[in-house]
Amino acid sequence: RIVYVNGQFLPRAHASVSIEDRGYQFSDGVYEVCLFLNGKPLDFHLHMDRLDRSLAALSINPPMGRGAFKVVMDQMMRRNRLRDATIYLQITRGVARRDHAFPAFPPAPAIVMAAQRFNVAALREKQKAGVAVISTPDLRWKRCDIKTVSLLGNVLAKQAAREAGALEGWMVDAQGFVTEGSSSTAWIVDQQGRLRTRRLAKDILPGITRHVVGDIAANAQIAPVEEPFTIAEAQSAKEAFIASTTSSVTPVTQIDGVPVGDGTPGPVTRDLIDRHWRHVL
Ligand code: PDD
Repeated sequence: RIVYVNGQFLPRAHASVSIEDRGYQFSDGVYEVCLFLNGKPLDFHLHMDRLDRSLAALSINPPMGRGAFKVVMDQMMRRNRLRDATIYLQITRGVARRDHAFPAFPPAPAIVMAAQRFNVAALREKQKAGVAVISTPDLRWKRCDIKTVSLLGNVLAKQAAREAGALEGWMVDAQGFVTEGSSSTAWIVDQQGRLRTRRLAKDILPGITRHVVGDIAANAQIAPVEEPFTIAEAQSAKEAFIASTTSSVTPVTQIDGVPVGDGTPGPVTRDLIDRHWRHVL
């Protein structure tokens, strides 16, 4: 496996970063996960726009331009002989003597990229079968709109889900409303047949797939309503699903052990899955 670290392509075993990198000590950095299918990136510019916003929020200067990111990603695909893959891109503030405040003289940001084969067939199977989710408290900080590598809240939510035999943890805020999944956006088709997801604000990540699926749905005359929902509402909804780069649109057929609808993927969700694949391929 070839990875990219600070301007160099090298075998993963030979790649290293400093123990004084602020990403390691303070989670002082951001990331993106881009999906490549048949060698081509999906919604590349939307991911780069979000990366720019995440970097700006932390006052880290973009270490290279969009064209350069694309060149490196294409190289990663080629050097690893991949067609379908995710590319993980991480940018941290860089190396400095440990002190919480930003270094007075900004270090060179550290850039790391790693590619991982993506199993399209496995995703299609999950989309056919549907997945289970569980609810779990949202323990995260107040700037979840920044895609930072500070992910402990998300990690604990996903681990709780895994231990319960579920695929995703839907995090619930202090008012009892679902914010989002540990690594995906949460959606329902409510009892009135409205497609619903939470509005964008500082308490959720502005998902690229959320944006794209919202557009696709609007074009299909099922414009989403941005209104939060509780776990009880989701359990009694007609349909539910998650959306993310790596799960596309994946039906949720069970929430905390309660079947959603008849416990199989519903018609609106299946239609959005088809439409999203048409957008992708
Ligand atoms: N996760 N919400 C959270 C908290 C996420 O981490 C993600 C993505 C999403 C969906 O966003 P997008 O559609 O842009 O992938 C929502 C990535 C894939 C990850 O951490 O692996």
